[in-house]
Amino acid sequence: MRLLVTGGAGYVGSVSARTLMAAGHDVVVLDDLSRGHRAAVPDGAELIECNLLDLDSLTTALSGGFDGVLHCAAFALVGESVSQPELYWRNNITGSLNLLDAMRANGVKSLVFSSTCACYGEPEVVPIAEDCPTRPVNPYGESKLAVDRMITAEAAAHGLGAISLRYFNVAGASGPCGEDHEPETHLIPNILRAAQGRLTHVSIFGTDYPTPDGTAVRDYIHVEDLALAHQLALEKTTPGEHRILNLGNGNGFSVREVIEAARRVTGLEIPVVEAPRREGDPPMLVAASAKIRAELGWEPKHPELDSMIADAWAFATARPGGYSEPPAA
Ligand SMILES: NC(=O)c1ccc[n+]([C@@H]2O[C@H](COP(=O)([O-])OP(=O)(O)OC[C@H]3O[C@@H](n4cnc5c(N)ncnc54)[C@H](O)[C@@H]3O)[C@@H](O)[C@H]2O)c1
Repeated sequence: MRLLVTGGAGYVGSVSARTLMAAGHDVVVLDDLSRGHRAAVPDGAELIECNLLDLDSLTTALSGGFDGVLHCAAFALVGESVSQPELYWRNNITGSLNLLDAMRANGVKSLVFSSTCACYGEPEVVPIAEDCPTRPVNPYGESKLAVDRMITAEAAAHGLGAISLRYFNVAGASGPCGEDHEPETHLIPNILRAAQGRLTHVSIFGTDYPTPDGTAVRDYIHVEDLALAHQLALEKTTPGEHRILNLGNGNGFSVREVIEAARRVTGLEIPVVEAPRREGDPPMLVAASAKIRAELGWEPKHPELDSMIADAWAFATARPGGYSEPPAA
């Protein structure tokens, strides 16, 4: 298939583009590089530099005869979405509306969307299944839920075939493609930055949760397993149908377990500072993954935390300053 990957210069998009190319698909990346990196775009993929908010350029970009779109481009910082919600309404919602318009104008009938577990907010039941009530607790989650609803209506009205994948915590790296955000808000890259001395320490927010070791438990999924799910989803959309599938490992790991695993993998003593809980951080977020396993035949190949951290560490040591600096010799 000929596929367009929006946000393909970002973390998830670049690894997904690589995976799709390895599976024999022809991939074009569309990204405005506002939060991504030219160096992350896989070799052999064309990069169209375009902002989703520029509808004319987007419509022209989509005229290249695509069989489907993987839509990863978005802003994805929870704190920023609280302090500047307007950025999230415009970029994530209007950007996605433009994408649907440009796809419709060009007869592109298949879409896979990067949704998020943030659509569920603070769920009462864990593991979190797809029928869990959607009650986002920040504008980031609200913006993604709005796009999911937009896609449902688009499928019903215009025959789009779509799958939204609601991810949990993505981790690891894939060869030359890894995680490099600024600011970095994710636990594993920050632990590794502390291991490298780029940060003085890593903070544990909350040690009194009702979990086995008192720290928050999250579902970490290897980015290569995530990319595989995107490939399977793109190959299985059905015209006129929008499916929503949770995408997680189905296993939870506590903050302390992640830090211990990073100490094991790196062989380094990682300085830790204990801090109070952050508002809106639930004790436990773990995905129910039965639906995606049944419907897409997806199975994680790297469910172990150590393998996610080892791959993230390989990327962090190969690119100690991130993509903006040359790789280590
Ligand atoms: N990383 C995670 O743990 C995680 C978890 C759940 C959901 N998600 C979702 O997955 C997607 C990818 O996440 P990521 O971690 O790779 O983020 P990322 O910031 O690394 O990548 C996003 C990419 O989108 C591009 N982009 C943003 N707005 C754009 C616009 N208007 N026009 C063109 N390009 C634009 C950025 O330049 C960047 O390259 C996001 O939609 C995010 O909401 C990620």
